[in-house]
Amino acid sequence: MSLEVSGLVKSFGAREVLRGIDLRIEPGEIFAIAGPSGAGKTTLLRCVDFLLRPETGSIRYDGATTPAEPAPAIALRRRIGMVAQNPLLFRGNAAYNVSFGLCIRDVDEPELSRRTADALKALGMSDLAATRASVLSAGEAQRVAFARAVVVRPDLLLLDEFTANLDPTNVNILEGAVREYNRSTGATVILVTHNMFQAKRLANRVALLLEGRIVEVGAVPEFFENPKDPRTRAFVTGEYAY
Ligand SMILES: Nc1ncnc2c1ncn2[C@@H]1O[C@H](COP(=O)(O)OP(=O)(O)OP(=O)(O)O)[C@@H](O)[C@H]1O
Ligand SMILES: [Mg+2]
Repeated sequence: MSLEVSGLVKSFGAREVLRGIDLRIEPGEIFAIAGPSGAGKTTLLRCVDFLLRPETGSIRYDGATTPAEPAPAIALRRRIGMVAQNPLLFRGNAAYNVSFGLCIRDVDEPELSRRTADALKALGMSDLAATRASVLSAGEAQRVAFARAVVVRPDLLLLDEFTANLDPTNVNILEGAVREYNRSTGATVILVTHNMFQAKRLANRVALLLEGRIVEVGAVPEFFENPKDPRTRAFVTGEYAY
């Protein structure tokens, strides 16, 4: 899925958090959005995921704005998956969590069980399928949240700090799963991260968001090795204190 964000403005009360965002993201791209805390990264993802309504500006998905009719609007929403910054799991076990999106799409047995098992397996979670979500470790819970998002095969996958506070093993598993999902489905991935190294490892292009504005967008090598804007340079070298 392609994404075209034009002139997006979002305020909370008197405070303008997104101040005119323009972005074009190509189908099949892994696109990272980096920036300090409070820059508006989550707000931007939430606008893309229909959880927030911007005041002005537009978002086009595969060239079209959100349909006004409920049925096509729901169909579009179902093509987008998100792993939130602090995902909540449902009560019930890991498999129930992963199968949820398939159930609401009326996927029947035996496909339901097969796809749930495959998604858990891809995240190294087969042994924990019957474990209650409430007792999973943070890394396991995050892997379940990821499997729950991708099991329905979204064309656009939004990841908000999806490995924050995890150990290297879980980070590796999750980053590998992103690469594999992107490779095998051709889905577009938007990855929000503070972690410059993660952006470098996973993304094709990176954007720096500062105080609600995009400062610079570039392909990974140029962005890191030859940034055009002094603020990008300060951010990628770690001089920018945040
Ligand atoms: N629902 C809301 N109501 C009021 N203010 C909000 C709301 N959501 C976000 N904000 C404010 O908007 C600003 C941007 O928040 P956002 O969560 O988008 O930042 P972020 O770039 O994702 O930061 P972090 O890296 O810490 O997750 C913050 O100052 C935040 O307090
Ligand atoms: Mg955030």
